[in-house]
Amino acid sequence: MDSISIIRTAKEYDENDPLRRFAGYFVKEDPRLVYLDGNSLGMLPKPTVSHLSEVIEKKWGEGLIRSYNSDWWNKPSDIGSRIARLIGARPDEVIVCDSVSVNMFKIIVAALRLKSDKSLIVSDELNFGTDLYIIQGIIDLLGKGHTLKLMRSDDKITVSDSETEQNITDETALVSLSYVSFRSAFMYDMKKLTDLAHSKSAFILWDLCHAVGAVPIDLNGAGADFAVGCTYKYLNGGPGSTAFMYIRKDLQEKMFSPVWGWWADAEPFKFNTGFSPAQGIKKFLAGSVPVLSGSTIESSLDIFEEAGIDNLRRKSVAMSTFFIDLTREHLAPLGFTLGSPENPEIRGSHVSLRHPEAFRICQVLSDEKEGDWTIIPDFRSPDNIRVGFAPLYNSFHDVAIMIKELARISGDGVYLRYSDERSVVT
Ligand SMILES: Cc1ncc(COP(=O)(O)O)c(C=O)c1O
Repeated sequence: MDSISIIRTAKEYDENDPLRRFAGYFVKEDPRLVYLDGNSLGMLPKPTVSHLSEVIEKKWGEGLIRSYNSDWWNKPSDIGSRIARLIGARPDEVIVCDSVSVNMFKIIVAALRLKSDKSLIVSDELNFGTDLYIIQGIIDLLGKGHTLKLMRSDDKITVSDSETEQNITDETALVSLSYVSFRSAFMYDMKKLTDLAHSKSAFILWDLCHAVGAVPIDLNGAGADFAVGCTYKYLNGGPGSTAFMYIRKDLQEKMFSPVWGWWADAEPFKFNTGFSPAQGIKKFLAGSVPVLSGSTIESSLDIFEEAGIDNLRRKSVAMSTFFIDLTREHLAPLGFTLGSPENPEIRGSHVSLRHPEAFRICQVLSDEKEGDWTIIPDFRSPDNIRVGFAPLYNSFHDVAIMIKELARISGDGVYLRYSDERSVVT
């Protein structure tokens, strides 16, 4: 396909896209901007601007402390029960609080206490830094001889069945995995891995950060024990918005958080001198929950409920498949290789492209003074350009522009003029 046909085909797809109108719900001042980083930080929904102003002016400005009783105190469970619908959980199995890292800490410590006869924790080498650091820190803190085993990924994209079967053994206390890998977008079979963990009498914890809002998730269907996830990527809750955690209903009674904060107390306003945990998942709260970032999640969830997660997934697969097909034809001859699974059934909503000059190519893409478009994907060391497809606001035209620009930049070597020096956030 030549570049005119690519743009024409993309326009046809856009015209037939049933979710097309949803792009209008998002703030986008610059028509030259192509934002392909919703897998890191989602765009700002227009309803969030008015909703947040209302919460600030009315609930905080006028309601003051009274707003805790009328609205805010139950926000962790109210918002949690709405997220539950997106992840196949019961309303009383999810709360919104803290960060993903902190929620992992609370769950893993509680889980290991219930498996005190076993000391092996299994994860994989594709997993995100924080997931592994939290486990390492817990092992150090507990000092009980736990070990962390990382399953290998030979192709650095997927983890094979033989690797999972060999490593998840009767010694395993906990399996901790990202449902969708942050770098390659590899997506595990949640039910299969959960069944495997359970067959060895191990717990399983799923990190849903790169899946929630882009991929249908069925925690209850899989029988999953625990999950954590963030709300600032596909859920568009804004920078640092509050995370969520899930604990299966039948496990809640046995689990106890290692962080005994007052929001987790059964009677917080009695200010007793001794802690007594609340019932249900609320005992995993710690301190005050950030109300303002909770309200940004609420207005964003309205949009998801209107669009429907199955429709979003359908569009996401269509976009990423279109992108991969065009990559094969136009970018592979220019030195790009695919860093994600080709099969959409085991791929989340982003695609990683690998190129030895990935960092400098990203610099050119996002340089406002270079070319007709400003394109924002992200770079993940050592050589990945991650292209995130957020089906609520990305178009097939965005996909076509990305392909055209990558071909132009890598073909004429314009990136050679750019520095290889990395800023803190890439
Ligand atoms: C897969 C994954 N897990 C965990 C985190 C960390 O989340 P938090 O900063 O809320 O602790 C991230 C952040 O990007 C992530 O991508």
